[in-house]
Amino acid sequence: MSNSKRRVVVAIDGPAGAGKSTIARRLAARLNFTYIDTGAMYRAVALWAAREGKPWDDMLVMEQMARAAKIGLESQPVARVTLNGEDVTDAIREPAIAQGASKVSALAGVRRALVDKQRELASRVSVVMEGRDIGTVVFPDADVKIFLDAETDVRADRRVRDLAEKSPPPPPKERVLAELNERDHRDRTRAEAPLMQAPDAVLVDSTGLGIEEVEERILKIIRDKTSNGKELA
Ligand code: DC
Repeated sequence: MSNSKRRVVVAIDGPAGAGKSTIARRLAARLNFTYIDTGAMYRAVALWAAREGKPWDDMLVMEQMARAAKIGLESQPVARVTLNGEDVTDAIREPAIAQGASKVSALAGVRRALVDKQRELASRVSVVMEGRDIGTVVFPDADVKIFLDAETDVRADRRVRDLAEKSPPPPPKERVLAELNERDHRDRTRAEAPLMQAPDAVLVDSTGLGIEEVEERILKIIRDKTSNGKELA
C-alpha cells in the first residue's frame, strides 16, 4: 500500500518566545511543507481593529473583522503577511499589536473564524502549523504534536534580541519580560482554547539549546512518528 501522498500535519504549540516561528519555518523548508504562522492571523485582526479604532474586546465586531479579513501567509522566499492585500509583515510585530492579538484571541467568535481559515489552509497540503491550540483544538488528530517551551528568562532575552534586530536600540528587558508574562498569563488562563500541552504532545525544552539542535531533535520526532518517513526529507 502506498500512502506517499498522505497529508501530514505537524503542530507546534508553546508560549511566546520559545522559538516556534524560527523552528517551524526551518522545519517546513526542510520537509517541503507549508509553514503556517497562526499567531500572525490573530495579530492581523488586532492590527486591523486598531487602525479602524475598534476596541479589541468588542466581541461581535472582532468576530466580523476576523471573518472578513483576507489574510495572506507566504513563507518563501521570505516570511510575509498580508492583510486585505497590504503587506503588514512588520506592522503586526509591534509590541502593542502582540498584546492586542492576545486580547482578540480570547474571544470565541474570533477563534472560530480563524480556526476555520487554518483548517482550510491545511486541507490540501502538508503543513507545519504553529500557535497555541494547534494540537489541542485546530488539529487534535495531528500526526506530530510538539510543545516547545523554554525558561521565561531565556524567552525574554530572545525577544529583546529579535526586537533589537528589527529596530535598535534593544528595549529594556524588564519591560519585555513584563509584557511576555502578561501575554502568557492571558493565553494560558482564557476560557477558550487556552495555551496548554496536549496530552499526546512531545515536550521540547529549548532552554540552552541552539536552533540547529532544536531543529534536529524535532525532525527526529517527526520521522519517528510518521510511519511513511520516506516522503519526508
Ligand atoms: O505567536 P504570536 O506571539 O504571534 O501570537 C500572538 C497572540 O495570538 C498570542 O499572544 C496568542 C494568540 N494566539 C492564539 O491564541 N492562538 C494561536 N493558535 C496563535 C496565537
